[in-house]
Amino acid sequence: MERIHEMINPFYNKDFITVQNLKPSDIDLLFKEASKMKKTVLKKGGIDVLKGKVITCLFYEPSSRTFGSFVSASQKLGTGTIQLLGMQASSTAKGETLEDTINTFGCFSDAIVIRHPEEGSAKRAASVSYIPIVNAGDGIGEHPTQALLDAYTISNHFKDFSKITFCAVGDMKNGRAVHSTAKLLTTLGVKKFIFVSPISLKMPQEIVQYIKKGGRKVMETENLNEVIESIDILYIFRMQKERFDDQNEYEKLKHKYIVSREIMKKAKKKMILMHPLPRVGEITIEVDSDPRSVYLREQMTSGLYIRMALLKLILKKD
Ligand code: NCD
Repeated sequence: MERIHEMINPFYNKDFITVQNLKPSDIDLLFKEASKMKKTVLKKGGIDVLKGKVITCLFYEPSSRTFGSFVSASQKLGTGTIQLLGMQASSTAKGETLEDTINTFGCFSDAIVIRHPEEGSAKRAASVSYIPIVNAGDGIGEHPTQALLDAYTISNHFKDFSKITFCAVGDMKNGRAVHSTAKLLTTLGVKKFIFVSPISLKMPQEIVQYIKKGGRKVMETENLNEVIESIDILYIFRMQKERFDDQNEYEKLKHKYIVSREIMKKAKKKMILMHPLPRVGEITIEVDSDPRSVYLREQMTSGLYIRMALLKLILKKD
């Protein structure tokens, strides 16, 4: 029986800043809505459910996928969009504060999607905003909609999250996407996490503690080879160049982990290979055609459906 519309919509008129407050039932509702969006998009391209609304995409940091998919998601729901990518053309370049900018776009739109280089910026924006704020990445903090699309992609391959071994490889210290994804997978019941990184770029201890608190196992290592055969999800991402104080250090580490055909040969037949993108050499091109690779299409289209679902739930009660 279809019950989505009988449930209370916990996203309605709320900010979406972190994955930490999400309950499994909230995630389930969102995934169901995303699957409906997928059907709609494949059948008729879009649906005018948010006609008359306007969504502002306020991106203070570079973005292709997150920006593009939020704009596309908004338009496929029938909204208008105000698009600011790079703030040099806005009053920010004149010295306007984040708070004043948020208030400004609050007068013209119904929700603001924000990406900003400072950790905590989305929360700061939400504290002054009259309209819902969606976090599209706050410095090294969180990237909650990336986590949702990652988990949604995983749910299409694995039915029982408790049996998954999730392995992330890269710059655990600065990777906001993996920060959110690891927390969300903890909520969804994943029991075993492996974080592969150079010692200097280990996962922040508070996130390791967050995962361990629920009785989950966390293994940290520098060596992908020693774990590759045992994992169900390989989630690799780039060293976060813009977050390094020492660019020589970045140059030394940027190609430390590369997933090649040889690595894929050692992995399980049913493993999936994920990447939030952009890739800067972490996966060789020949791996793109491996059936286990989901980063070039499935993960990104999941992003569109998830963002459509989230915006709809935030802006429409039932
Ligand atoms: C990620 C980000 O911006 O945090 N990109 C994205 O949104 N898909 C990952 C990254 O930039 O490495």
